[in-house]
Amino acid sequence: MIRPSLFTLFSCAALVAQVSPAAPGGTHGLRLPASFFVGNRANLLQQLRAMGPGTLAVIKSMPEQPRNGDGDHSFRQDSDFYYLTGVEEPGAIALLDADSAKPYTLLVRPRDPKREAWNGPRLGVEGALKVGADQAFDLPKGEDTLAEALKKAQRVVLVCNLDRDFRAKVLDAVLPLGTDNGHGQFRKTLQDGRHLVAELRSIKQPAEIDMIQKAVDVSIEGHLAAMRASKKSLNEGQIAGAFEGTVRSLGARFLGYDTIAGAGNQSCILHYPFNDAALHPGDLQLMDAGAEVGFYTADITRTWPSNGKFSAEQRALYDLVYKAQEAGIAACAVGNPHIAAHFATSRVISDGLVDLGILKGAKDEVYQRGDWKRFFIHGTGHWLGLDVHDAGDYGQKDPIYRAGGRRPLETGMVLTVEPGIYIPKGSEGVDPKWQGIGIRIEDDILVTIDGPKNMSGRLPRKAEEIERFLK
Ligand code: GLY
Ligand code: MN
Ligand code: MN
Repeated sequence: MIRPSLFTLFSCAALVAQVSPAAPGGTHGLRLPASFFVGNRANLLQQLRAMGPGTLAVIKSMPEQPRNGDGDHSFRQDSDFYYLTGVEEPGAIALLDADSAKPYTLLVRPRDPKREAWNGPRLGVEGALKVGADQAFDLPKGEDTLAEALKKAQRVVLVCNLDRDFRAKVLDAVLPLGTDNGHGQFRKTLQDGRHLVAELRSIKQPAEIDMIQKAVDVSIEGHLAAMRASKKSLNEGQIAGAFEGTVRSLGARFLGYDTIAGAGNQSCILHYPFNDAALHPGDLQLMDAGAEVGFYTADITRTWPSNGKFSAEQRALYDLVYKAQEAGIAACAVGNPHIAAHFATSRVISDGLVDLGILKGAKDEVYQRGDWKRFFIHGTGHWLGLDVHDAGDYGQKDPIYRAGGRRPLETGMVLTVEPGIYIPKGSEGVDPKWQGIGIRIEDDILVTIDGPKNMSGRLPRKAEEIERFLK
């Protein structure tokens, strides 16, 4: 979800064989090649050079985040930093000097045998040179290199998503405070460079598409394991655990986002974080879960009856979401605006809710008034890649629908299509038979010149396919 967001009839054994990651040990440690990062830097440098002489890009890694006493959240590199450097460790700063024949400088934490004995190896200067830097320096001494570069530059392009202290430091260096004795010299430009990287990231290169496909394939295995675990599970935790254990064992070091495994009424909570409630027979199980492989993530949601068979009401709503998703996927054609999928899904859902008697009135009016937004409370999808809600502009906002924008789809874009209907218990004016049902179906779609390609389409999606798989 959620920007305010198949299996054909082959047997389960055939399915598993087909989607099993090719590498014998799974996807453990899989990464894009060094040439990928070289290319990304070259693309950014080209844009920096076009801005004029004296242009310097400064790119900051993700800061570490404390979790509790003596513990940090597990460190995952900032996606922009990773895209440009391939460097996975914290504390690093990258400089790209558009004027230099050796433009790429890396500032890194120094080697430290004591710390490394506790926390694992560091790149150090030697490692930084090995991963492509033209020059490298240890921090904090390397701060001098940064200060000199900032002093020399006329235009500083900053790519810094979350390190407030670092941004303040760069701001002070580039736009120093001072009196009119000095201010004649204050003529530098500090500019946000994140949109430049976002533009590069928004069209996926073939190697990135392959990596996303691997994340999707591993995630499909996780989803199948969770569905298989469903009948014998007593708690949402066992569903989430089946997914997470499977994708970890297949090589996903991280999840792309926290697993959402809500059963019954919890299926109506979009980003349900707890996954620890008891399962009740007859409830629907919604699971939105994606593995991260080589820093790229999948984002897949399936909803299934935990006892293996949809009730009449569950089935009616499920089929409606399915139909909406089909319409949404079909709208992911080159040249269509991103928001076309949302127009398609919302219209199907709105009309269908009228047919079921859940919304009342003439279909056109119900749609135009937006009555359906009470039950379909998010957009239809978002870009997908290094981040689950990936970088990239959505274009001009539609004045009525916030989710998505007018940006035309291009070959190589990857996005989710994820319509849903959520009718929590206590929904006023809704027949109780519909209450406690939350359904989302989410797939990962590659835009191609030959039409939308459903990268996760091998996972059972149609109601009959799901029931057959659960048998
Ligand atoms: N998994 C979060 C989302 O679907 O956006
Ligand atoms: Mn999503
Ligand atoms: Mn999702």
